[in-house]
Amino acid sequence: MTKKSMMNKQNIIEQTKQFVREKLGGEGSGHDWWHVLRVYNNAVNIANDEKDADIFIIELAALLHDIADWKFHDGNHHKGGEVAANWLKTLSVDGAIINRVADIVNTVSFKGLGEKSIMQTLEGKIVQDADRLDAIGAIGIGRAFAYGGYAKREMYNPEEKPMEHKTFDEYKKSKSNTINHFHEKLLHLKGLMNTESGKKRALKRHQFMSRFLNEFHNEWEGL
Ligand code: ADP
Ligand code: NI
Repeated sequence: MTKKSMMNKQNIIEQTKQFVREKLGGEGSGHDWWHVLRVYNNAVNIANDEKDADIFIIELAALLHDIADWKFHDGNHHKGGEVAANWLKTLSVDGAIINRVADIVNTVSFKGLGEKSIMQTLEGKIVQDADRLDAIGAIGIGRAFAYGGYAKREMYNPEEKPMEHKTFDEYKKSKSNTINHFHEKLLHLKGLMNTESGKKRALKRHQFMSRFLNEFHNEWEGL
């Protein structure tokens, strides 16, 4: 690889970071810039453990994976892949690269246990693992309760049983309390990881979440 194209790639990454940071900013539902930066770091770390992954594709897809969420702020209803592609076009990124990134952005998000978002490429698998890691562990716990507050959900309600959502629509409409969200999504993510590195990282975070839930229920009972 020539020095010029290296520089260019780094430049594209830096400009994309700025673009995403401006668009997502301090979003309150868990899709803020800091989530994106954590997913980016997770993805780079997993990519370093896994052989043969195309790091440039992974970096761009990780940075742009939640870009569709800024649509809520200006009433513009593009799909994520389209927004990502339009942005990368302004930087004159190669068309084949744009297609690969847009494809990942369009398929990465969790749609409930009933609908599998199966990633076709190693790069997609890594970005999906990186996004899922940020939903579990200490960060995942923080995000779940932050989201619960944002959506005005109860923290917990022992009279409500966790639901099994068969379709994306059911999952989207669910008004579950936050502890139920652990049973409906977060505790399943460890088993849905794609890569070996992702699995190892998920296991550690999963164990922490289980300890948290145990303690939560003990305290709920006044122990
Ligand atoms: P993704 O980026 O995987 O599409 P979501 O949009 O489903 O994530 O969720 C964003 C964050 O909000 C995640 O940390 C997720 O666990 C949390 N979250 C989503 N739905 C709920 C819910 N019903 N209760 C609590 N947290 C939730
Ligand atoms: Ni995300």
